[in-house]
Amino acid sequence: MAQESFVLIVSDRPDLARDLARGLVRVIRSRVLTPRVALPVEIPLIVLVDVDDEANAADWLSRYHAFRVPCLYAPRKAAADAATAPHLVGATRTLSAGATRPIMLAALFDLIDAVRQARVQTARASVRASLVNGLAGQAGLVIQGAFEAAETGQPVKAAEIDSGTEVILEAVSDCGIRAWLDTIAKHDSQLYQHSLSVAGFAAAFALELNFNRADQMRLAKAALLHDLGKARIPVSILNKPGKLDAEEMAVMRTHPDIGADILAGQGEFDRTMLDVVRHHHEMLDGSGYPAGLSGDRIPDLVRLVTICDIHSALTERRAYRQPLPHDEAHGIMCRMSSKLDLVLLKAFAPIVLRSAGYALVD
Ligand SMILES: [Fe+2]
Ligand SMILES: [Fe+2]
Repeated sequence: MAQESFVLIVSDRPDLARDLARGLVRVIRSRVLTPRVALPVEIPLIVLVDVDDEANAADWLSRYHAFRVPCLYAPRKAAADAATAPHLVGATRTLSAGATRPIMLAALFDLIDAVRQARVQTARASVRASLVNGLAGQAGLVIQGAFEAAETGQPVKAAEIDSGTEVILEAVSDCGIRAWLDTIAKHDSQLYQHSLSVAGFAAAFALELNFNRADQMRLAKAALLHDLGKARIPVSILNKPGKLDAEEMAVMRTHPDIGADILAGQGEFDRTMLDVVRHHHEMLDGSGYPAGLSGDRIPDLVRLVTICDIHSALTERRAYRQPLPHDEAHGIMCRMSSKLDLVLLKAFAPIVLRSAGYALVD
């Protein structure tokens, strides 16, 4: 493993500098410099500037600020002119004037901790980003395969759908819904991206509701395939940049039945899953399609996917409009109280916040 960088102590008080270096010895290497020498070639982890002359102190702080190295400034006295005070030049933290050795040492330990933690977080974020990228790539191939099979009349491979669903659950539970959405947003097919997005929301919802593993799979899988029937909708209608006319809308509205019939014909997908595919556009007040189901005739699993589907659609980019922010989309859905299940919408709120980038503590 590469040796960690060091703390650079720039001080015109050699005794104090040596004491500080001795205090740091169990934690990190340090180097002591008098303020008149040249910069060391190696970049330090942190710099402490303890220099009486303000102009010289400002010079050191600005040099390392340019390299984004966190600097601790220990002024000997309060700045005579606040506007030109050295701490404005680039100190990450400035101690009170005339700080004692123990205070300087404690401040150094704090800053070392903060920098190390930030580095660990950056490293974790980069591991997470590459993990979620790989998983999104795998899931993307699975949904592409399913749509291509549906379009050409080939069987949709149930085992592949299972493994794609597992991949989505893994990505969302390990890396979070926000990272998942950020990653799949790069997908060039709006249809595949939408399927991956709805499945991601469904996975996050299932985890939020503490579903057992079988139910997590059932919900996320149904969400992944909910729009499968669009594989047989003409591209001119599917990708029309403007509003659909009545005739085109009638064609578009056939996709739930088409998708459910394709999967039912294979005999490998259970009834609850087929219900989601066939009824994800039904509304509680009976205004939805294709069957105009209302109230209790719409199963819970369908209601859950409907919420994920609408939230996803509102927050996705379309040729004719910008994506809505997550909180705005949720607000619109909460005002659809006669159509959507408000209890489930409330339970969906933590996912809305996570999608918007809030880190919630469980
Ligand atoms: Fe749909
Ligand atoms: Fe959809």
